[in-house]
Amino acid sequence: MRRLTTALSAAAVALMLSGPVAAASGDALIEEGRAIYHDKTRGNCISCHNINDPVANLPGNQGPMMVAMKQRFPDKRKLRAQIWDATVANPLSIMPPIGKHWILSEDEIDAVVEYIYQY
Ligand code: HEC
Repeated sequence: MRRLTTALSAAAVALMLSGPVAAASGDALIEEGRAIYHDKTRGNCISCHNINDPVANLPGNQGPMMVAMKQRFPDKRKLRAQIWDATVANPLSIMPPIGKHWILSEDEIDAVVEYIYQY
């Protein structure tokens, strides 16, 4: 019994230690961005932009498809800036200024950028 308890505590400690490391890793960030992108109560990106991800549900086509992001935005900071405030590039944009209007936090925008940058 004592051995089992010791093993369990060791496992719990290992989990606690691995938590923050996993959260900071690229995969976790991408998964967070994916959740935000497809969540109609958060970024709601999917209501305007289709993306070639099987989880895409009822995508809209008001905005361009999220495709060839690396080619079209070799500088990731420009992609982020576009999401932060689309009205800089197009003052008449119907895309909400996601960062400027605090629709998503800075960290959530980073996660969305990592997610779409794969497509
Ligand atoms: C109400 C519709 C709408 C929503 C919601 C929206 N966008 Fe947009 N987005 C657009 C339109 C329209 C454009 C085309 C450029 C313009 O008019 O500003 C655009 C442009 C973009 C671009 C530039 C693409 C290119 O090909 O140049 C990116 C990247 C982008 N949106 C990402 C996002 C992300 C990420 C979200 C969610 C956080 C989002 N958009 C939410 C409508 C929307």
